[in-house]
Amino acid sequence: MDIKERKSIALLVGSLRKESLNRKLAVVMGELAPDSLDLELVEIGNLPLYNEDLDQDPPGEWTEFRKKIAQADAILLITPEYNRSTSAAMKNAIDVGSRPYMKNVWSNKPAAVISLSQGAIGGFGANHHLRQSLVCVNALVMAQPEMYIGAAGNMFDENGKLTDSKMEELIHKFFRSFNRWLSNFIE
Ligand SMILES: Cc1cc2nc3c(=O)[nH]c(=O)nc-3n(C[C@H](O)[C@H](O)[C@H](O)COP(=O)(O)O)c2cc1C
Repeated sequence: MDIKERKSIALLVGSLRKESLNRKLAVVMGELAPDSLDLELVEIGNLPLYNEDLDQDPPGEWTEFRKKIAQADAILLITPEYNRSTSAAMKNAIDVGSRPYMKNVWSNKPAAVISLSQGAIGGFGANHHLRQSLVCVNALVMAQPEMYIGAAGNMFDENGKLTDSKMEELIHKFFRSFNRWLSNFIE
């Protein structure tokens, strides 16, 4: 087992738009993370759509992304809900990381999923579709606590600051559980 003072966490955001609430949550989570977790946002919007033919001579963006995921101690995925699933961008990132065959960078990687939506059910469908793919690529997906954030439209001010103190407490709680769970894999 590795002995580490700080665990490196690759943070993936499934929405690509500038004013994304999921991205705002990611930024806030970076600020609220405990010292033991080092969160780094890994961009997925620049990844060419997965096409097996391209893996003969993979695009640099894929290689860079695969390296970042392979080097991280764990992954935190924050997803919007698009038509009751995760976004195409997030699914593409999963596909890119899962190939070439036998070089799947997700395998045995601890991972947690958070879904955030403006809708009432907090991206439940997205959360579970994403978990399904992560289990398929042999990521070690944290079962509990589940985190579905609904009605997120008014949760941040115009500067992206979290205005909901209950949500802040929930994020701290999530980090406590995540950190404790990670110590099953990384001390
Ligand atoms: C293509 C598309 C499909 C969507 N489908 C859903 C959905 O199934 N459930 C839901 O709660 N919200 C849905 N929404 C609304 C998103 O939850 C909302 O736009 C959210 O703010 C997106 O996340 P973002 O702010 O990080 O971009 C959809 C939005 C788009 C653009």
